[in-house]
Amino acid sequence: MSENKNKIWGGRFENNPSKILEDINSSIHFDKRLYKHDILASIAHTEMLQMQKIIETKDAKKIISGLKRIRKEIDNNEFVFNPSYEDIHMNIELRLKEIIGDAAGKMHTARSRNDQVVTDLKLWLKDIINDLDYKIKQLQETLISLAEINYAIPLPGYTHMQTAQAITLGHYFLAYVEMLGRDRGRFKDCLDRLNECPLGSAALAGTSYPIDRKLTSKKLGFKNPTFNSLDSVSDRDFVLEFLSIASICSVHLSRFAEEMILWSNQQFDFIKLNEKFTTGSSIMPQKRNPDSAELIRGKTGRIIGSLVGLLTVIKALPLAYSKDLQEDKEGLFDTVDTILLLISVSNEMIKEMEINAKNMEEALNKGFPTATDLADWLVGEIKIPFREAHSISGKIVKIAEKQNCLLSDLSIKQIQSIDERINKEVYNYLSIKSSIKLKRSFGGTSPSEVKKQIKLAKKRFLKI
Ligand code: ARG
Repeated sequence: MSENKNKIWGGRFENNPSKILEDINSSIHFDKRLYKHDILASIAHTEMLQMQKIIETKDAKKIISGLKRIRKEIDNNEFVFNPSYEDIHMNIELRLKEIIGDAAGKMHTARSRNDQVVTDLKLWLKDIINDLDYKIKQLQETLISLAEINYAIPLPGYTHMQTAQAITLGHYFLAYVEMLGRDRGRFKDCLDRLNECPLGSAALAGTSYPIDRKLTSKKLGFKNPTFNSLDSVSDRDFVLEFLSIASICSVHLSRFAEEMILWSNQQFDFIKLNEKFTTGSSIMPQKRNPDSAELIRGKTGRIIGSLVGLLTVIKALPLAYSKDLQEDKEGLFDTVDTILLLISVSNEMIKEMEINAKNMEEALNKGFPTATDLADWLVGEIKIPFREAHSISGKIVKIAEKQNCLLSDLSIKQIQSIDERINKEVYNYLSIKSSIKLKRSFGGTSPSEVKKQIKLAKKRFLKI
C-alpha cells in the first residue's frame, strides 16, 4: 500500500491518484480566491456545532483560532497551496490539521464540500454584487454630470443609423443612465434570490446531526437557509443569473463603446478621446485608435461566452452534485474581473474625452431632421390627419433634396407649390432649436425636460 494516498479519503483507496488526475481535478489555482469566505463559513459552522453540542468547546476554540491564523497566512502570502489537495476547502482543512492536530477533523462534521463550496461562492458573490453596484453607480454619476454640462447641445439622433430627429446630448447620456439603472436592479434581484444559505445540506441528503441551519444562515448574513438539500448542492442558478446580468450590462457598455468609436471617427468627429485612452499605429504615423472603447466592445464577447459555457455545463446534469459544477468558477471569476474593468475604463474614458459640439450641430444640416416637425406643424395648423401631413412633408423634403439645401432655405413659394395652405409661420418650426425645444413630453429630448430628468435621475439612482 502506498503512503501518499489522499489524506482526506485515503481510507478506501489502495493507490495514489494518477498525476494526470490532478491536472484535471485540481481547482486550487482558481478557487483559492474564495479563502476568506471559506474561512468565514467554517467559523460559523464550527460555532454552530459547538452550540448544538455536536463538538466540544475546547475543540471549537482550537479550530477557530487555527482558521484565523490560516487567514492571516494567506493574507500575507505565507500559505503554501498544494495542488494535490485539490481545492481551497481541503488545503485549509489539511493546514488546520498541521496547526491544531486531529481536532481539525471535527470541523467537517455535518457538512460536505458540496454544501461548503456553494456557500462560499454565494458569500463571495454577495460581496462582489455590492462592489459592482457601487461601481455602476459611479459610472451613472459621471454620465449624469456629462448630461448636466451638455444638456442643451443638439446632435442628430439616429434610427437605422440614419439621421432621424435632433436630440440633445444630455438626453443621450441619460439613456445610458437608464440602462445601467436596470442593470443595478437586476444585480440586486439576483442578490435577493441567492440570499439563502445552503450550509448544512451536507452531501445532498441533509444530516442526522442535530444542526441548527437557521443559526449558521444568520451568522453568515443570509436571509434564511435553503429549503431543499438536493437542490441546494446542485443549484448554480445564481451563477447563471449573475452571468446573464453581466452579459446584458456588458452589452450596454459595448453599445456605448461602439458609439464612442463611431463618434471619434473622422467622418463624425463628434468627440476626441483623450490620448491616454488611445494608441498609435506601428506603421501609420497619423493614427490614434480608440483601443479602450474597442476592448470594451470586444471583451463583452468573453462574458457572453462564460454564460453560454456554464449553461452548457449544467444542461441535463442530473441531481445532485457532480464535479462538472466545479466548472462554474473560472468563467464567473473572469466575468467579475472583466465587468469591473469595463465599467472602470468606460468611466475614466468618458471623463476625459473632448466633446465637439460644433460638429454635432453641423451634422444636423444633413438628413432633414426637422421633416417630422414640419408634418406635426401641418397637423396642428391646417388640421389635417398626420398621414396626409407626412406625405406633404415628404414632398417638400424631396424639393430640398434636389436643391441640396436645408428645409429652411426653401422659399415660401416652393413650399406652397406642394400645399398652398402653408404660411410663413412654418419657418418657426423648421429650425433645430425649435424642434428640440418642443419635445417636451415626459422623457423627451427638450433641454427643459432633460433638466427635469437629470433631477429625477439623481434622486432615483444617486439618492441625492
Ligand atoms: N472543488 C469542488 C467544486 O468546486 C468542491 C466540491 C467537491 N465535491 C466533491 N464531491 N468532490 O465544486
